[in-house]
Amino acid sequence: MRLHIALLSCIFPMVVVADELETQLAAGAGVYEMNCAQCHVDGKGGPVAPALVGTEIVKGPARAIVEVILKGQSGKVLVDGKPFAAPMAPLDYLTDEEIAAVTAYVRKQFGEVGEVVPVQTVTDARPK
Ligand code: HEC
Repeated sequence: MRLHIALLSCIFPMVVVADELETQLAAGAGVYEMNCAQCHVDGKGGPVAPALVGTEIVKGPARAIVEVILKGQSGKVLVDGKPFAAPMAPLDYLTDEEIAAVTAYVRKQFGEVGEVVPVQTVTDARPK
C-alpha cells in the first residue's frame, strides 16, 4: 500500500499535495483541540471567544489568521455591540509548523478553504 502511494505520488504531483494537506489538517485538528477549543469551542464560539465559522478572516488569506495567532487580538470583534471581556493573548510559543497546521485546519473546517499553509508563511510573519 505504501509503495503504491509512493508510486502514485511520483506520477501525480497532485496526489502529493492532497497527501500533504491531509497530514497538515490532521496535525492542525490536534493543535486546535489543545490550544483553541477551550475558548472558540467547536468554531461556533462561546462566552469568551467569537465564532470562527464562516467569518471573513477564515475565508481570507492565511497570513491574517497567522498574525492573530502570533500577536493576539483584542477589541475588534463585537457581539451585540460589546467586545469580549478578555483579549486573545498571543500563542507565539507554538512552533511555526503547529501554527501553519492549525491555520490550514481552521480555514478548511470553518472557511471551506482547503489549502496547504506553507510553514514559511509563519516564519515570515513572526516578529523578528
Ligand atoms: C483565551 C481564549 C482564546 C484562545 C485560547 C484562542 N482565542 Fe482566538 N480569539 C479569542 C478572542 C477573545 C478573540 C476576539 C478578539 C477581538 O475581539 O478582537 C479571538 C479572535 C480570534 C480570531 C479573529 C476572529 C475575527 O473575526 O477577527 C481568530 C482567527 C482566532 N481567534 C483564532 C484562534 C486560533 C486558531 C486559536 C488557537 C491557535 C485561538 N484563536 C485561541 C480568544 C481566544
